[in-house]
Amino acid sequence: MAEIKIENVTKRFGDFVAVDNANLTIGEQEFVVLLGPSGCGKTTLLRAVAGLGMADEGRISIGGRDVTYLPPRDRNISMVFQSYAIFPHMKVSDNIAFGLKMRKTDPKEIEKRVHKAAEMMHIEKMLDRYPSKMSGGQRQRVAVARALAMDAQVLLMDEPLSNLDALLRLEMRAELKKLLADINATTIYVTHDQIEALSMGDRIAVMKDGIIQQVDAPGIVYDMPSNQFVGGFIGNPPMNFLTGQVQRENGQVHVKIGDFSLDPAPMMQPVLQKYDGQQVVIGIRAENMETLNKHADDALQVRVLVVEPLGSQNLLTVNIGEDTVKVATHPTFRVAPDEDVWLRFPADKIRWVDRDSGMTLYPV
Ligand SMILES: Nc1ncnc2c1ncn2[C@@H]1O[C@H](COP(=O)(O)OP(=O)(O)O)[C@@H](O)[C@H]1O
Ligand SMILES: [Mg+2]
Repeated sequence: MAEIKIENVTKRFGDFVAVDNANLTIGEQEFVVLLGPSGCGKTTLLRAVAGLGMADEGRISIGGRDVTYLPPRDRNISMVFQSYAIFPHMKVSDNIAFGLKMRKTDPKEIEKRVHKAAEMMHIEKMLDRYPSKMSGGQRQRVAVARALAMDAQVLLMDEPLSNLDALLRLEMRAELKKLLADINATTIYVTHDQIEALSMGDRIAVMKDGIIQQVDAPGIVYDMPSNQFVGGFIGNPPMNFLTGQVQRENGQVHVKIGDFSLDPAPMMQPVLQKYDGQQVVIGIRAENMETLNKHADDALQVRVLVVEPLGSQNLLTVNIGEDTVKVATHPTFRVAPDEDVWLRFPADKIRWVDRDSGMTLYPV
């Protein structure tokens, strides 16, 4: 059993709160991605789990055992760093064996594990080479192989792909995902790359300013962000946000964008009633609007500013009031800049956000 439980963990540097009351449970053999912009506290939280920087407050347990104050070697974890921390003038085989030697593992066992880990990472032919003569991608494989050789129940990875170029990252992403599924370790994987998070994680924990904002499966984080930050951070393009004015007529709530009137889904009526006369933020993803070439009563007329043909879609930039909005259309949709299109907002695709708190409103 290697469930990781992070309870009320806070970590400060002087007066600065780097991790603020974090709560997160990673199930046995689960793969959780810790995602957030640079400086939000991901590494600090991971280091607290690893024992490399003790939490100031809270509790961390692994497999039911309280490890909050245990040194790293007593936690049965293995870690891959962003910088790889590979010794350039030590043979690949010695690099992979390093942690096992430190633990005084039996030499025969070390050799067996080094070979197995090297095979998993497809570097078994490079065991006698030196990392100083290897490419970034190969060095990265050595770092992962070293972590795998430890056979730890818990694997902690801190931006392991961030030093690779885009193409190699794409390749390694799929490879790592398959590998990690095969080895069944409980994994926390840190990244600032939302695509990496969406594509790899069983669940994603989104972090901002030391605070965990949402923990959910990728599809949920994408489709039902808990707040405007999460919607705006995840997805390419990020979720659009525009301003609407709530108006009640005959007991029903409508939301006005200029003169255009949106009808919220019936289940949102009770929530939005409370905003009568106020502004709300309308969140909608680029691919969730329907684009028409001609007028329709239930569609909003907008002027197209930019057209970007991206192969699988045409991405339009339009202005709605003060807000700039991205609209994804089918690649065959024909429109030129300075022409008008008409947008439909399907009620079930709209996310309503409280303007002051930034929190998404969901039916109660
Ligand atoms: N040893 C340290 N001393 C002081 N501040 C630190 C230290 N380590 C990290 N920080 C600060 O804590 C914040 C979170 O850092 P970090 O956890 O490395 O973020 P991330 O990994 O998400 O980029 C940053 O503002 C960083 O400057
Ligand atoms: Mg970091």
